Amino acid sequence: MTQQIKKIAVFTSGGDSPGMNAAIRSVVRASAFNKIDCVAIYRGYQGMIEGDFKQMNARSVNNIINKGGTILKSARCEEFREPEGRKRAYEQLKKEGVDAFVVIGGNGSFTGAVKFTEEFNFPVIGIPGTIDNDILGTSYTIGFDTAINTVVDAIDKIRDTASSHNRLFFVEVMGRDVGHIALNAGVGAGAEEILIPEQNLGLERLLDSLKRSKKSGKSSSIVIVAEGDKTGKNVFELKEYVEEHLPIYDVRVSVLGHMQRGGNPTCFDRVLASRMGVKAVDSLLEGKSNCMVGVKDNKLILTPLAEAIKAHTEIDMELLKVSDIMTI
Ligand code: F6P
Repeated sequence: MTQQIKKIAVFTSGGDSPGMNAAIRSVVRASAFNKIDCVAIYRGYQGMIEGDFKQMNARSVNNIINKGGTILKSARCEEFREPEGRKRAYEQLKKEGVDAFVVIGGNGSFTGAVKFTEEFNFPVIGIPGTIDNDILGTSYTIGFDTAINTVVDAIDKIRDTASSHNRLFFVEVMGRDVGHIALNAGVGAGAEEILIPEQNLGLERLLDSLKRSKKSGKSSSIVIVAEGDKTGKNVFELKEYVEEHLPIYDVRVSVLGHMQRGGNPTCFDRVLASRMGVKAVDSLLEGKSNCMVGVKDNKLILTPLAEAIKAHTEIDMELLKVSDIMTI
């Protein structure tokens, strides 16, 4: 793909994450810096199909680096899964004179991008934006750091009341396929047990661990449960199960839900997003395509999008061990 890039489109897609605005800002300003046009697409692939474009300049992204959510809105688009939808999207891009696009999103968004480049040989770069931190080819996705800090902050507050009433809390956090949020926030907030999709130690172990906690003198406990944990029980069923088998416990449930996706991005996420946006534009101008920008050992790298969507990142076994030791 050696065509000269004169106009780049940028959009956000899939579940939003804090820091997406910082990434949009970075792509827009890096385009301005390189004297190429930049258009924003609203509502992800849906807006691409409908031609919902807006010309951007360096001033269009003033005062958004600190804001959660995405000023461009986001969507999960069924139509783009079909060849007809992608064809309509391509025609809209051509009509607008767009030569390449930067997609900020997660696995689903990148899967769409891979199909699109295969069909239309269209230059594309991905920037990983999701709170789940589950994308191969990067140690951190934009939004993960903010999300785990939000979760830790919430659990600190829950711990206050748990401790006042000598209660056990099951706290459900996001992560339908991976346990990165649960594991990192769990260690950071000092949870007694962390239940994640990657590891099902069974309900017996949970009961044993809670018995041990009581015996060792702990008056209150926090158990973090990732949405996609494999115990076969949701947090409310876990509460009933523990109440039935360990009546000594007074149990409560807290589902943190979408508050984990909101809020002002941390400095880490803002810096990461700013770096990735610049790298995305530079990469397109160097003739690269069909890749995702990632960070490893604090260096920016490119990974083929097709690789990035192959699997989820694995959890850190060392962190699991640390968690086990801390709950003695
Ligand atoms: O992929 C990000 C994520 O926040 C997951 O952790 C969560 O399971 C899912 O999105 C929720 O999606 P929705 O906002 O569509 O309910």
